[in-house]
Amino acid sequence: MTLIDEVLMNNITSNKPIWIMRQAGRYLPEFREIRSRNPNFIELCLNEKLSSEITLQPLRRFNLDAAIIFSDILMLPYGLNQKVEFKKNIGPILGNLNLDNILNLKEIDFVEKLKPVYKLIKLIRNNDLTKNKNTIGFVGAPWTLLVYMINQESPKLGLKNDFFKDKIFLNETLKVIEKYLIIHIKNQVESGAQIIQIFDSWAGLLEEKDLSNYIYEPTTNLVKYIKSLNIPVICFPKGIKKYKEFCEIVNPSAICIDYEVDPKQIMKDIKIPVQGGMDPKILLTDRENLKKEVKKYLDIFRNHPYIFNLGHGILPSTDPKMMDYLVKMVKDY
Ligand code: CP3
Repeated sequence: MTLIDEVLMNNITSNKPIWIMRQAGRYLPEFREIRSRNPNFIELCLNEKLSSEITLQPLRRFNLDAAIIFSDILMLPYGLNQKVEFKKNIGPILGNLNLDNILNLKEIDFVEKLKPVYKLIKLIRNNDLTKNKNTIGFVGAPWTLLVYMINQESPKLGLKNDFFKDKIFLNETLKVIEKYLIIHIKNQVESGAQIIQIFDSWAGLLEEKDLSNYIYEPTTNLVKYIKSLNIPVICFPKGIKKYKEFCEIVNPSAICIDYEVDPKQIMKDIKIPVQGGMDPKILLTDRENLKKEVKKYLDIFRNHPYIFNLGHGILPSTDPKMMDYLVKMVKDY
């Protein structure tokens, strides 16, 4: 049993386990080196030799408790034959969504397209570097995927004006996303993923009245499905504000919190295991400040099942030395 397994069984551990969102990524020179030779991001994700190597890169450097597979939440629309491109300095750009084509798609064709993701999971599970560590698979939440698939680009500046115009179309799309998410999760678990994290990066965009339809209902369905496989599920509804209500309704195995919520309030409100919280920007300051902030989270959650992580992905401008210091501090605490 690993430390993370203990925490996910709702046990308080004296040492807190640690992994970091986006731990395999652009702040590592060895990632940038591979990336510079592979301009097509989707193709890089579909090259299991490289994607497994990238997954393992942070484990070679740091004493982390888990590997998170190097993939992307937008592999799902890619698997559904929607065009997905990553443009430098802009982010993801998606092609038009053709719902009829998706409704006519065959499950085996979807799985075939994403096979390299499942092969990557098998490769890293068989690697000595993940021995006694957890392998985390992940998906985007139905709502966040709906956002990308309909908005066709990051909604950083807000959703397009007509986003909510056709509710029937939105709900049909949501249903088909849910269907394929289940297939994607099933295949990740069968390949060896031991935990699933659901990233709802744009949960904060919804008004309260819409939370039930777009977040609570579809996410609850996924959580129930993942639990039925005897696999723990961590939800990250970034920016949702109502973490307590989310946990009561959706009931994940653990909740990942963002950097805008007050950890003390979470400690009072939430009875399930908690993950994350610290602002990734702290890693851009100095060691003294980092120490102070890490200590804050570890002290607040000392008597709670807690996995150390950040309140969003590690920033590309992070110095790997600061990451090293962070991991050592959590381990030596
Ligand atoms: O955590 C990890 O180390 C695993 C890898 C991982 C990636 N994306 C690789 C990646 C994970 C877990 C994701 C999830 C993801 N992808 C989310 C949810 C988490 C979050 O950040 O909110 C979202 C919204 C996406 C969609 C996406 N993919 C965006 C918006 C972008 C471009 C901007 C950005 O934040 O990097 C990507 C590209 C992407 N996915 C990169 C990496 C390492 C950068 C690729 C590059 O340009 O080199």
